[in-house]
Amino acid sequence: MSRAGLDKDPQAVAAMFDGVAKRYDLTNTVMSFGQDRRWRQITRQALDPKPTERVLDLAAGSGVSTAELARSGAWCVAADFSLGMLSVGRDRGLPMVAADALHLPFADASFDAATISFGLRNVVDTVAGLREMARVVRPGGRLVVCEFSTPTWEPFRTVYMNYVMRALPPIARAVSSNPDAYVYLAESIRSWPDQQALSTKIAEAGWSKVAWRDLMGGAVAVHRAFKPE
Ligand SMILES: C[S@@+](CC[C@H](N)C(=O)[O-])C[C@H]1O[C@@H](n2cnc3c(N)ncnc32)[C@H](O)[C@@H]1O
Repeated sequence: MSRAGLDKDPQAVAAMFDGVAKRYDLTNTVMSFGQDRRWRQITRQALDPKPTERVLDLAAGSGVSTAELARSGAWCVAADFSLGMLSVGRDRGLPMVAADALHLPFADASFDAATISFGLRNVVDTVAGLREMARVVRPGGRLVVCEFSTPTWEPFRTVYMNYVMRALPPIARAVSSNPDAYVYLAESIRSWPDQQALSTKIAEAGWSKVAWRDLMGGAVAVHRAFKPE
């Protein structure tokens, strides 16, 4: 089965997620020791959607992240370019749209807020993806990015980057339908910008007041920003 490389070729990324779609949510929960649920709740709290608002959940996969956002009562749209991932979530009763993060099929300023969980790392051009999200969010609207990041405490960082990341593929072999995808996961986490560097990219894409919160000692970070009025 296919896996993407660090060139993040969009077709290879979409095919890889099509390949893991059926067991993606389960694998995710196992590999995160059940923490994924808490990360999604924190992402919703950071975005703070109101019941009257329209929210874009980009790279939504099966819509597991969208379902958590929709608990707020806001109208939440799941968008993703893997039809395999979207079809796994088709019974969730959420609006789902097949869309590439770099060419969103939405008008300018059509959302009050946009979010992307564990998806931005896979987009071939990070700043272009963030800019496209800024285009579809209204002035004054919000952005939240939940993504793997860099542990802040040096001893934990060393263990995490050198040992935990190397252990991922063997663990995945037991639960995932495509263990090779976890080689890509580990590689892409290791080469991903740290909290400060991602914050700089978010600002470069036109967002303001960028701030972040570390989770699990910085292994995951939730960045929030606003579109200037
Ligand atoms: C790790 S999953 C995350 C799914 C969900 N947001 C979650 O929190 O579990 C990453 C998703 O990003 C999607 N993705 C990656 N690059 C994309 C792009 N350029 N446009 C749209 N979706 C993309 C993949 O198809 C995949 O479903």
